[in-house]
Amino acid sequence: MNFKEELEKKTGEVEDILAAYLPKPEGFQSKVLEAMVYAVSAGGKRLRPLLMRESAVLFGETGEELPCFMAAIEFIHTYSLIHDDLPALDNDDYRRGRKTTHVVYGEDIAVIAGDGLLNYAYETALRAFRKAVTIEDYERIECAMHILGRKAGVYGMVGGQCADLLAEKPETEVTEEQLLYIHKNKTAALIQAAMTIGAVLAGADEEAVAQLERCAENIGVAFQIQDDILDVTSSLEVLGKPTGSDEKNHKLTYVAMHGLEESKRQVEALSEEAVGILKVFPHRNVFLENLVEQLIYREK
Ligand code: IPE
Ligand code: IPE
Ligand code: MG
Ligand code: MG
Ligand code: MG
Repeated sequence: MNFKEELEKKTGEVEDILAAYLPKPEGFQSKVLEAMVYAVSAGGKRLRPLLMRESAVLFGETGEELPCFMAAIEFIHTYSLIHDDLPALDNDDYRRGRKTTHVVYGEDIAVIAGDGLLNYAYETALRAFRKAVTIEDYERIECAMHILGRKAGVYGMVGGQCADLLAEKPETEVTEEQLLYIHKNKTAALIQAAMTIGAVLAGADEEAVAQLERCAENIGVAFQIQDDILDVTSSLEVLGKPTGSDEKNHKLTYVAMHGLEESKRQVEALSEEAVGILKVFPHRNVFLENLVEQLIYREK
């Protein structure tokens, strides 16, 4: 199987996990459930669950508790996208090739669909405890829960979104340090959560988890720089979301600060450094290395 076929197969497996964990739209709250399902099932690259599983594979067996966390992280990521697209934030009308959740369901339902997904994500991750047998299993799941809460919250993605929104104000002067904070938190934090949770559940030791966290930071920052590049160079048809969103919102991006060519060089340098870290672990996961490398040239 070549890389592309393997990626398709593995993405299909993530889709099956998500479908199995998604709630059914029924009852008096069926509208919000429908909006949650709409946002999640629109597709997307499923990068975070893929990275989680491959990071677990890097350190050994993937246990039965892993799918709960794979679904949880994609639910959190999707909630962040629903809220990111709202008129009060980036005000975008397309996502994953479809109208955004607030365009279809209204802003009120979109806000609570995000809330619903965030809470349901933790409910889903907590199911992992039911699969635990030994005390070590409980400890690993507790550690994974802690990573998820920390990296998705104010000391991670939410913190990054806050700095990103404040940097939009025309009167604000933004430094390189703030730009890096934004990239590390709004984007890299969830990628770090994905990869370190995979490693922790597979029983990696503390030092290995710390190294993987550094690797994931590089991947995440490179991923956001590439996202900013595509916002300038791509199209709605290819990306599935509007281009020019950053300029419209006076966003501070790596591209705005350093230009396209330097940004592309940074994506490459950060990704290569990340792959370099992956190669020093006792076991190799060539698929994971290829996945990180192909993100450099991703077009969506
Ligand atoms: C979009 O993430 C938001 C960013 C952090 C740049 P993705 O590019 O992973 O979006 P999907 O999940 O594939 O739609
Ligand atoms: C958003 O960054 C990152 C999130 C936490 C959702 P962007 O605002 O650049 O993401 P897109 O381009 O809308 O996907
Ligand atoms: Mg945004
Ligand atoms: Mg946005
Ligand atoms: Mg963007």
